[in-house]
Amino acid sequence: MKTRIAAALLVAVLAPGACRAPGAAGAPGAADRPPFAPTFPTGWRIAPGGRATFAPREMVASNAPLASAAGLELLTAGGNAIDAAVATGFALAVVYPEAGNLGGGGYAVIRMADGRTAALDYREVAPGGATRNMFVDPATGEATDASVIGHLASGVPGAVAGLLATHERFGVRSRAEVIAPALRYARDGFIVDSALAASLRTDSALICRFAGCARFFPGGRALRMGDTLRQPELARTLELIVASGVDGFYRGPVAQAVAAEMRRGGGLITQQDLASYRVAWRTPVTGTYRGHTVLAMPPSSSGGITVVEALNIIEAFGPPAPYGSLTSFHRMLGAFQLAFIDRNEYLADPNVISVPVEQLIDKAYARRQRARLDDRRYVSTRDLAPGLARREGEHTTHYSAVDRYGNAIATTTTINSLFGSGVWVPDAGFFMNNEMDDFTARPGTPNQFGLIQGEANAVAPGKRMLSAMSPTIVLDQSGQVLLVLGSRGGPRIITGVAQVIMNVVDHGMSLFDAMAAPRAHFQGFPESIRHEAGGFSGPVLDSLAAIGWSFEVGTTGSPVAIHRVRGGWEGTWDPRDAGGVSGR
Ligand code: DON
Repeated sequence: MKTRIAAALLVAVLAPGACRAPGAAGAPGAADRPPFAPTFPTGWRIAPGGRATFAPREMVASNAPLASAAGLELLTAGGNAIDAAVATGFALAVVYPEAGNLGGGGYAVIRMADGRTAALDYREVAPGGATRNMFVDPATGEATDASVIGHLASGVPGAVAGLLATHERFGVRSRAEVIAPALRYARDGFIVDSALAASLRTDSALICRFAGCARFFPGGRALRMGDTLRQPELARTLELIVASGVDGFYRGPVAQAVAAEMRRGGGLITQQDLASYRVAWRTPVTGTYRGHTVLAMPPSSSGGITVVEALNIIEAFGPPAPYGSLTSFHRMLGAFQLAFIDRNEYLADPNVISVPVEQLIDKAYARRQRARLDDRRYVSTRDLAPGLARREGEHTTHYSAVDRYGNAIATTTTINSLFGSGVWVPDAGFFMNNEMDDFTARPGTPNQFGLIQGEANAVAPGKRMLSAMSPTIVLDQSGQVLLVLGSRGGPRIITGVAQVIMNVVDHGMSLFDAMAAPRAHFQGFPESIRHEAGGFSGPVLDSLAAIGWSFEVGTTGSPVAIHRVRGGWEGTWDPRDAGGVSGR
């Protein structure tokens, strides 16, 4: 776990208008109904009953206090939630280089106060020179690690095009204003907090294989908490984006710098690839869960469909089983299992593969899926084929913003692993993603998240690799924004987002408890529940084992969320991790 205390201190010192950190007592934001007070297992390390940050009017939540403060700056200057989110996104690229990025991509789900909804796909695409078996060693036939580390691992970045497209369509302040806080942090520097210092230390070997070593390990020594980090190369890149918009990144000096670094290191991305990159506006996947509306991300992310299919199957079991019970875990994990089997079979880039979206999120289909699960025993993934008739034919970060008008945006962005492929573009000042690993490198071989994916997600030039990112907006029964959330964690994003929704909707928890509650994850293969140490009570663990489940201990993603409460909003990052919430 990252040290949160120093990060929280930095919020208080550096972010004007920053609100109370999670855990502070006495916030006035009681939920619309009195929250259910859960009992967590005795071995669980986070006590229930903490409070998320409260703000009456508007709020930004992210994994970095300075990035949330950048969003608040825009809100205070008269901007809307979209301006705030875009400012937060650019700022994350500066102050949170392990996951915030210009060299990656992401997704956004938007709901404007007038009821308009939109989903933006700014996922990376495979370079024009990519080939189906580029990550298979011809000598051994085995998958190589080139999809994870180094120049070949990168897809053509979509982040800058995505942030600018979001801003152009829905923002109200100028481009210069939404980039200004990030530019200031890059040019003037900011004080390194404990979270950044720790992640640099953890990934020193990766970073120092490539050009970023000089910037983050000056004189061969890792930046330490309290040091000032200035990033003049990144500041120049941001200035070019202010001046020329997408062309400031996808053409000219920045594109030349990316292509030159690719040539130097044997990568594939060319200036032509960059100039051809386009975002895709899509229609959100719209599901319902116990009378709530779930606005979620469609393919090329699997997130929305998989969250909605899993929630539909859980709903098909009837009223929620009591929180923490054997039945609730058994049903939830079985629903995740079926939804992941479908994910890995049917979902891929919709520009290339036809995805049966409506069938997968259909309630009648969920009832048929539910009937395939046995309420008394675990059914092996090997015995569960994908549910439809045969078809013819760790690093990410989430941020959410809401404003005084009722606009809301959920955005998840990533360079995949921490610091992406490790490749840092000298002269442009950012890390490149290793998103190519999200393709099926070799059918039957698990990727870095253990996902065994299908043919539909094979590498092809210009294709988007399947994602699990799940920016999601939940509306309550009266159609008002209730939750704006998302997570990091690869496939654990899907199950983490679903569990936070269930904790709030099914169990009536406060946002803090919904986020603090222990989570469990199951994706079909490997055939073991991934759960957090101390997260199951002894009797539940024993009973799950008795009906056939297996287990492994591991982390389960890291959500960031905003929740509407009486009189305003509550927001928090995962209490297991670092983050910041700013509001007013
Ligand atoms: O798009 C995806 O599903 C992955 N690239 C996300 C990676 C991720 O969440 C890593 N964070 N821990």
